[in-house]
Amino acid sequence: MSDVSERDILRAELRWAVVTGVSVSVIMLAVIFAGVVMHINPPSNVQRINPQDLHLSAEFTESNLGTKVEANGQVTARIVATQFAFVPRCVLLPADTPVTIRLSTPDVIHGILVSGTNVNTMVVPGYVSQVRTIFRRTGDLLMPCHEFCGLGHSEMLATVRVVPKADFHPGPDGRAACAAK
Ligand code: CUA
Repeated sequence: MSDVSERDILRAELRWAVVTGVSVSVIMLAVIFAGVVMHINPPSNVQRINPQDLHLSAEFTESNLGTKVEANGQVTARIVATQFAFVPRCVLLPADTPVTIRLSTPDVIHGILVSGTNVNTMVVPGYVSQVRTIFRRTGDLLMPCHEFCGLGHSEMLATVRVVPKADFHPGPDGRAACAAK
């Protein structure tokens, strides 16, 4: 006969239940704190936008797509992901500079990643996706669509052309685009 009584077993189980409950509570509180207080949220749903008049509304009209240096110096690239292409197909961005990439789609769910970097987000109709990053390497980085979006999915890719900071010369309107090759 074992000298462990039923009472000891119950007590051990209760101890483990308390440890588990406290651990789960700490993790849940950390998740809620990160989201509500630190504003760390998935990059795919930062803002709502109407997908039906995306191309007519201010931010994602064709003339406003691509890279723009804002008045405050913030570098922002705006891209529309649509079946089955990105507009524009190439964005020019400076290295070693904080940059913001904002994306939206008028049709279905797409996803993007910039190869070799931490840029990775879904692009969901009805929302603006936003990623902030600093590119450390220069060169042409491939940006494929990584969410199956239809028959042309495998053909859907763009280029992020990262140039040294010294070689990044936006025009007087603050815009910069990939030179034709
Ligand atoms: Cu867009 Cu796959």
